Amino acid sequence: MFGRQDSGDTEMERLVLDALRKVNDPELHRSIVEIGMIKNLIVKEGDVSFDIVLTTTACPLKAQIQKEAADAAYSVEGVQNVKVNISGETLAPKVSKKQPIPGIKNIIAVSSGKGGVGKTTVSVNLACALQRRGATVGILDADIYGPNVPLMMGLKNAIINEKTPDGKMKPPENHNIKVMSMAFLVKDEQPVVWRGPLLDRVIRQFFTDTGWGELDYLIVDLPPGTGDAQLTIIEAVPLVGAVIVTTPQEVAILDSKKGLSMFKNAGIPVLGVIENMSYYICPHCDDKTYLFGQGGGKTLADLLDVPFLGEVPMNPAVRQHADVGEPIVVAEPESLQSEAFYQIAHQLTPTSCERGVNELLATATVS
Ligand SMILES: Nc1ncnc2c1ncn2[C@@H]1O[C@H](COP(=O)(O)OP(=O)(O)OP(=O)(O)O)[C@@H](O)[C@H]1O
Ligand SMILES: [Mg+2]
Repeated sequence: MFGRQDSGDTEMERLVLDALRKVNDPELHRSIVEIGMIKNLIVKEGDVSFDIVLTTTACPLKAQIQKEAADAAYSVEGVQNVKVNISGETLAPKVSKKQPIPGIKNIIAVSSGKGGVGKTTVSVNLACALQRRGATVGILDADIYGPNVPLMMGLKNAIINEKTPDGKMKPPENHNIKVMSMAFLVKDEQPVVWRGPLLDRVIRQFFTDTGWGELDYLIVDLPPGTGDAQLTIIEAVPLVGAVIVTTPQEVAILDSKKGLSMFKNAGIPVLGVIENMSYYICPHCDDKTYLFGQGGGKTLADLLDVPFLGEVPMNPAVRQHADVGEPIVVAEPESLQSEAFYQIAHQLTPTSCERGVNELLATATVS
């Protein structure tokens, strides 16, 4: 009877899927079926096999998820054998024709049309969420004139004074994440007043002359807008894609469209829109207040025809922790904000990138 699925197998497949639906990812608190972690479910005469797709195969929660999923499948009557394959190494498709940077698998840029919407906050928390899911992660601070990543990563006083054995700049590290920033090369009080060509050279060197080692993800925190730094990165770096950060009230669609055109014209997929400072929950009465209006990020994503990746609530704790170098994902991993960052990080993992890339490639031109 092998080779063709009979109606008993189809029914059992449905029951197994229902059982798996009840298994939640321990950090995302959502069903592993609903967030697309289960792939290739096959049921044949009581034998069940499926894949669980993780951020990386090194995910620390791997054993727990694997066991709970296997137990769920065994709970279905008639199931005799369950085989769970863990996968996490499928990389985002290499749409870029640029030379890859040796050792770095996925480079994702975090951008915005306007300043102050939370790009750096998103960059550091996304990086920490990916790292805590088992990925090796670095952050490149491409904001040369206003570098904020070191402060938010607890590396305010770090400088670069060492080289790696292969002669590259050794990036300072905290929260198990390597960071490169202009702030490590100039003193606080010195303003950086470089013109375009020098800026271009420095940014290129940050990618190629830093001892990043092996990285699953390099998150690039961009300055706001569509200036020289963005153009250099688009030209020189094999980006897997970019995410756009906005706040609900930022109905400056034109600015965001400009950013989107910049990426799309260069053949770089926009993986989606993140809405930051979406709402505020009163600590006394749990009331949800949409301080800046509601639904701006989703509207923007729909208008730009890219995925909406999620909303991050507003909370003074985000800034307070950032100011002392502890991203909220590290300082308060159970908070609503951290959960939002984990969910966004999950969507940026390879399988989801693939979905985003394919959708975007289908609509390659910008109106
Ligand atoms: N969800 C949030 N809740 C509360 N405060 C936040 C939140 N997100 C960001 N902030 C705070 O808002 C300020 C601006 O955020 P951030 O520096 O990340 O923005 P940015 O877009 O990188 O700014 P710039 O364009 O200047 O680089 C920071 O003080 C940060 O701590
Ligand atoms: Mg910033």
